[in-house]
Amino acid sequence: MPMGMADIAEVLWNDFLQHNPINPHWANRDRFVLSNGHASMLLYSMLHLAGVKSDGQRKEVTLDEIKKDGKIIVATEGQFAPFNYFEGTKLTGFEVEVAELVVKKMGLKLEWKTLGFDALLTGLGQDRWDMVIASHGITEERAKAVTFTSPHYCSGGAIVTKNPALKTANDLAGKVLAVQTGSSYLDAAQKIKGVKEVKNFPKDPDAQAAVMAGRADAWITDKFVVMDVLKTQKNTGLQATGMLFVEKIAAAVGKGNQGLADAYNKALGEYMAKGGGYEALSTKYFAEDVRCK
Ligand code: ARG
Repeated sequence: MPMGMADIAEVLWNDFLQHNPINPHWANRDRFVLSNGHASMLLYSMLHLAGVKSDGQRKEVTLDEIKKDGKIIVATEGQFAPFNYFEGTKLTGFEVEVAELVVKKMGLKLEWKTLGFDALLTGLGQDRWDMVIASHGITEERAKAVTFTSPHYCSGGAIVTKNPALKTANDLAGKVLAVQTGSSYLDAAQKIKGVKEVKNFPKDPDAQAAVMAGRADAWITDKFVVMDVLKTQKNTGLQATGMLFVEKIAAAVGKGNQGLADAYNKALGEYMAKGGGYEALSTKYFAEDVRCK
């Protein structure tokens, strides 16, 4: 039997779904029954799903669309304690709690996705999720690809080592450094003059393990991550010896999705205002207020 329009469309559709991870918002909105009459509509819809507007521009999920669905899809890593990590099967952490409280203020439900750190901003660019919160420092380079929200804390890259003599960037000449792939620590490590080797690891705890096992001289990571390690893990032999740089940490939305960023910023602003709850949460995790001063 010859293939009709609907058959062709269905084949294309299935092929499309196989090759294109789609944002569930679209999946919810664009489901309909196939018929010959619907075939051209489906082709149109496929372009829509692929994120192509009729003028050929990429289409983002707007705040209105998110509100209509009632839920925002937020991606994080889940391997960066105490900011985003798993307690058993439960995703938790300082910024996980911040996001949950802020999204609640926005009147939305939150659906978490957890992925490798390196995939997070890329997936945002493909509209696979609406927002990322995973301790990203605001950098010019990243800001070319995503829109950052207001920061939810300030921190920086610390030198963590078994060797107390390694206190500054100069001391790291001739040394082997361990950092997380795709992180600002990798960038910082690569800029240090005379470094012998920069080893990078998909997960930050693996960079820590490399230093503990003597396969690297120093681990560069967030200063609060080190504090947490020193508090929760005994006999690591590690110490934080110095700071390399400071950074403002923020969530990110798709490039130019200003409506969503504004709504998040407004709710975050309320949460971070005096008595809004932020200070208490910050004290619970860090025994200090970690907001940018
Ligand atoms: N703050 C660093 C950066 O901006 C590291 C972030 C790592 N986050 C994570 N979830 N592993 O790159």
